[in-house]
Amino acid sequence: MSKAFDVVVIGGGPGGYIAAIRAAQLGFNTACVDEWKNEKGGPAPGGTCTNVGCIPSKALLQSSEHFEHAGHGFKDHGIGLSNLSIDVAKMLGRKDTVVKQNNDGILYLFKKNKVTFFHGRASFTKSGGGVYEIAVAGDKPDALTAKHVIVATGSNARALPGAAFDETSILSNDGALRIPAVPKTLGVIGSGVIGLEMGSVWRRLGADVTVLEALPTFLGAVDEQIAKEAHKALTKQGLKIQLGVKISDVKSAKNGVTVAYTDAAGKEQKLECEKLIVSIGRVPNTNGLNAEAVGLKLDERGFIAVDGDCKTNLPNVWAIGDVVRGPMLAHKAEEEGVAVAERIAGQHPHVDFNTVPWVIYTSPEIAWVGQTEQQLKAAGRAYKAGTFPFMANGRARALGDTTGMVKMIADAKTDEILGVHMVGPMVSELIAEAVVAMEFKASSEDIARICHAHPSLSESTKEAALAVDKRTLNF
Ligand code: NAI
Repeated sequence: MSKAFDVVVIGGGPGGYIAAIRAAQLGFNTACVDEWKNEKGGPAPGGTCTNVGCIPSKALLQSSEHFEHAGHGFKDHGIGLSNLSIDVAKMLGRKDTVVKQNNDGILYLFKKNKVTFFHGRASFTKSGGGVYEIAVAGDKPDALTAKHVIVATGSNARALPGAAFDETSILSNDGALRIPAVPKTLGVIGSGVIGLEMGSVWRRLGADVTVLEALPTFLGAVDEQIAKEAHKALTKQGLKIQLGVKISDVKSAKNGVTVAYTDAAGKEQKLECEKLIVSIGRVPNTNGLNAEAVGLKLDERGFIAVDGDCKTNLPNVWAIGDVVRGPMLAHKAEEEGVAVAERIAGQHPHVDFNTVPWVIYTSPEIAWVGQTEQQLKAAGRAYKAGTFPFMANGRARALGDTTGMVKMIADAKTDEILGVHMVGPMVSELIAEAVVAMEFKASSEDIARICHAHPSLSESTKEAALAVDKRTLNF
């Protein structure tokens, strides 16, 4: 006998679990099915973000940053340390604890909101009579029916052709979080978000890290001025970043990996490294979903085809997050999840993709929202830009972290903020102000007239707003 629900959410990542909670809040009898297992075989909801992405990488970024500060930063504060060491097993154990706290938190939230959780892999079996039938395969197989289905099955790491992930030598985002001892040499293919974050972790702990990037520009999607500043800072720290390379071969042997490539000058090169992280983007995950059974349409790149409201080609079937078009970001998935649950309830929510913030958690952090200067130039839009360096910010000086700047771009005529771009300390937090401002269609003058606490890093945002009108007060 199948169990009947109003809404079944397939996938318990940030998109799926949030969609399930919102649907339950709106009064729907809701289930969420997720197959992720912890090391004991138990449920580990939270998807890539919680298990092998955002959360564990931030745990390791924090640990490695402490290590770096202790080794290099404390001296300036008059703090002396001897015999500094890193216990990698303990650091990884702490990271696993943080992950488990998040897994357990989601299970608690399901209980609190009366979402029924099923641990296993969900696949469509058939549809008819206004319901979809879904089989759950796992330790306790089940059969469900749903009036509405939200597919939130996420994405998987994209492998380089001929270099499958073994998670021992050739690592995806998963293996990159579980290297048991600091490697002497680490190769990274792809200088995107994962490559830079994980490269930074292991570099701080002592690895000699070389990053090989296919594109000739560093962080092409980032505002050029900010990307240049970030490149300078990361290179100074010791990340060896090579742009414009073409990988020709990857060979894995017992004691390491050899990457053959052509460099930007067209010269054949070889990189020998103990471990290799391949971070060249991700592909949508529809494995085992059995989309064909109900005629759910995918696009030519394997994403579930959806419209701007996350509606698929099937009535009452929705898809959100990494498995559909748009940036593969947890917070974008969450917004889509909430919006879909509200649409099922007949409400009219709106997700503004132009105000989805981006953050890269390197040190200095990189964060931005809205359009870059190069995008505005290409679109022929008249704009004014203002920048303010953290070097001129009192709090940044007191912190001893003065790298980077805040840059604000506003429309030349109306002064509406079109983009805010940051590189520097804690900009992952500072960017929120810019997002709020843009959501409320604020002008740069609005920000310039708002009282910001002193001394705080956020004063740099106000000063960047003043700089749009060429009237900074502290620079
Ligand atoms: P990415 O799309 O950020 O970067 C991939 C990089 O690899 C690009 O620079 C690309 O030009 C390069 N590349 C592609 N093929 C290559 C090749 N054959 N040889 C050399 N370079 C090559 O992808 P990444 O870093 O794998 O991350 C995947 C997704 O995860 C991203 O969409 C990202 O948004 C998300 N993510 C977000 C985080 C955050 O918000 N802080 C953290 C980690 C991941």
